[in-house]
Amino acid sequence: MTAADSRWGAGANAEAITAWDGPLFDRFLRFRHIVTTGLGVHGERALELFPPQPGERVLDVGCGFGDTTQRIAGLVGPEGEAVGVDAAANFIDAARREAEEAGVGNVRFAVADVETTRFEEHFDRAFSRMGTMFFANPVWALRNVREALVPGGRLAMVVWRRRTDNDWLYRAQTIVEGIVERPEEYDEPTCGPGPFSMADADTTSDVLLHAGFADVSLQRCDIPILVGNDVDEAIELVMTLGPAGEILRLAGDRATHLHGEVDAALRAGLSEFLQPDGTVVAPASTWVVSATAPA
Ligand SMILES: C[S@@+](CC[C@H](N)C(=O)[O-])C[C@H]1O[C@@H](n2cnc3c(N)ncnc32)[C@H](O)[C@@H]1O
Repeated sequence: MTAADSRWGAGANAEAITAWDGPLFDRFLRFRHIVTTGLGVHGERALELFPPQPGERVLDVGCGFGDTTQRIAGLVGPEGEAVGVDAAANFIDAARREAEEAGVGNVRFAVADVETTRFEEHFDRAFSRMGTMFFANPVWALRNVREALVPGGRLAMVVWRRRTDNDWLYRAQTIVEGIVERPEEYDEPTCGPGPFSMADADTTSDVLLHAGFADVSLQRCDIPILVGNDVDEAIELVMTLGPAGEILRLAGDRATHLHGEVDAALRAGLSEFLQPDGTVVAPASTWVVSATAPA
């Protein structure tokens, strides 16, 4: 993997990478058991629709803790290989450690800002579970992914659909926005364009076409996800991650005195998703986006 020159957006993701490698890594680590279970069902759907084949080499973009990379390594088998890349060194350190502990041999991990990295090696497939929504310039980043694929190689990525079909996130955001003013100035780094940057089907397919992909398809995937093992955990999750969590993080100490009010409003707002067994499970909607690198 080599870093490309500045024409390809070097530095554009610097602030987002600082956020992913620092506060957001800590927050994902804390809620990892919920995040990987919730997102897991949507990732599995993408792997069912576009299954990696034995012997293939697969690039996992924005791999986070690398659980999907390990999963893909199992699907491609010992003759194949899964390579996970992520811009945040902390995620890659954790991914390497966990794959080693699990004894998975056919995986590799590398720190790479996909927007500024031209891959020297080639892959039969690229996969991403929620790892492609945070690029400053998605066309540049996805062009690098397309160039890393063999002719005919397929990308399959999972991205959030529109906010209103992910009401637990959107409701939490509107509740928090109603109580806490988003600060105009803040010291904290932000995570880039945000989780809904690929929600619009036309924009996302145009991005892929501009990145040189062909044969673009988007399949809607509606599967409810676990938001918390109980209501306290669900509230803590939305106050820590996602759009509501970002508003609170950026407001920092200035909003601490409002946390009680936010907690009470979220408790009422999320009650609809409370299950008889005490867990919180909410409707969630993603696109499984697929495209191929032309021959
Ligand atoms: C929402 S997390 C998803 C992680 C993982 N794929 C999962 O499903 O659990 C987004 C990931 O994208 C990574 N990321 C953000 N910008 C990136 C970039 N420019 N290049 C590579 N990875 C990036 C973040 O560090 C983070 O690990």
